[in-house]
Amino acid sequence: MRAFDAAEQPTVLVVDDTPDNLALMSTLLKGQYRVKVANTGEKALKMVAANPPDLILLDVMMPGMDGREVLQHLKENPLTANVPVIFLTSNNQECDEELGLNLGAVDYITKPFSIPITLARIRNHMRLKLQTDQLAAMAVESDRLRDEAQRATRAREDVVAVVAHDLRTPLSTILMTARLLEGPARDDPFLAPAKLGGRIFRAASRMEALIKDLLDLAAIDAGQLAVDQQPIKVQPLAAEAVEMMLPLATGKDLRLSASLESADVLLSCDRGRVLQVFANLIGNAVKFTLSGGEITVLGRVDNAAYRFTVQDSGPGITADQLPHIFDRYWQGRSTDRRGVGLGLSIAAGIVAMHGGRIWVNSELGSGSSFHFTLPRVG
Ligand SMILES: Nc1ncnc2c1ncn2[C@@H]1O[C@H](COP(=O)(O)OP(=O)(O)OP(=O)(O)O)[C@@H](O)[C@H]1O
Ligand SMILES: [Mg+2]
Repeated sequence: MRAFDAAEQPTVLVVDDTPDNLALMSTLLKGQYRVKVANTGEKALKMVAANPPDLILLDVMMPGMDGREVLQHLKENPLTANVPVIFLTSNNQECDEELGLNLGAVDYITKPFSIPITLARIRNHMRLKLQTDQLAAMAVESDRLRDEAQRATRAREDVVAVVAHDLRTPLSTILMTARLLEGPARDDPFLAPAKLGGRIFRAASRMEALIKDLLDLAAIDAGQLAVDQQPIKVQPLAAEAVEMMLPLATGKDLRLSASLESADVLLSCDRGRVLQVFANLIGNAVKFTLSGGEITVLGRVDNAAYRFTVQDSGPGITADQLPHIFDRYWQGRSTDRRGVGLGLSIAAGIVAMHGGRIWVNSELGSGSSFHFTLPRVG
């Protein structure tokens, strides 16, 4: 289907085995239409399949494949079924005309034909066809707008769900703890102000991290995530990532180290944003790997890019979960409330803004390897 474009001349395909008829029709139609010609039914079908015209003038009596057969083929193909066909025939018997119309021809012109009437009929059918195309294009556009609106509504509902649940939980911790601080001092060491302050700090930090994630997602959706790409060496970048996550890993008795090839390579990236990707990937590895396990950051040149891998000895991911892993708000276990399922989708957004790729290799029981690439300088 072709969208209506007034600037573009509509195309008419004339199919006739008589060269004189093709020449005559071409001369008549040129100027108002782009004219294509075919002197056999077979050729016509090939041309139509490659590029459907807006209207076909089809001779009924032709050697080889005749007009009726051509029409049948056209109607069977969804790409050409809606192209209007006008039969051209020197045979003006009524029963033939009926057969043609039953087969799906929109009109019948008998030879010898009156030029003004023929042109008027072609014009009418063409107008109808272009209007139908325009309506169809409008229907497609309105479907697209409806889908977009539904997606936006769903995104809003997701945000409301997060605010309703995941922000309210730490907020109520803060409120209750603040109440305790307000009241008279108690002997219980669990209610000591320092303990209560620590609890408030942790809950507020969770809220802050979640709000940052939601804002990042909104920026990614709007294509406005600020990414300031600067030349940065692989070695200090990976070292900073490991250092940043080390307390978390060692706190859970996990070994965390880096092993990098070509560590002097210069990358073009936003340091803070790439550290955020590492924080999400290493953070997940820490969260899902049992104590005593191992997490390694690997690096190597990958064509014009550099590829980092965060590899863990954790539980791995089942094959049916792998396709969803980067989806937003998706979590392997819906009961896992240690996050909301945003980390990987944000990491994917950041990597994409750098022009890189992110993917995962994992099998249940054999750990996971999350890979991402970043562009190299030069
Ligand atoms: N290293 C990993 N090993 C096993 N499963 C993982 C690993 N990383 C991610 N997953 C699975 O993918 C899901 C989505 O990860 P993602 O980082 O997007 O969300 P999350 O960690 O659950 O929450 P958030 O990152 O918002 O705190 C996780 O809930 C988990 O089921
Ligand atoms: Mg995560």
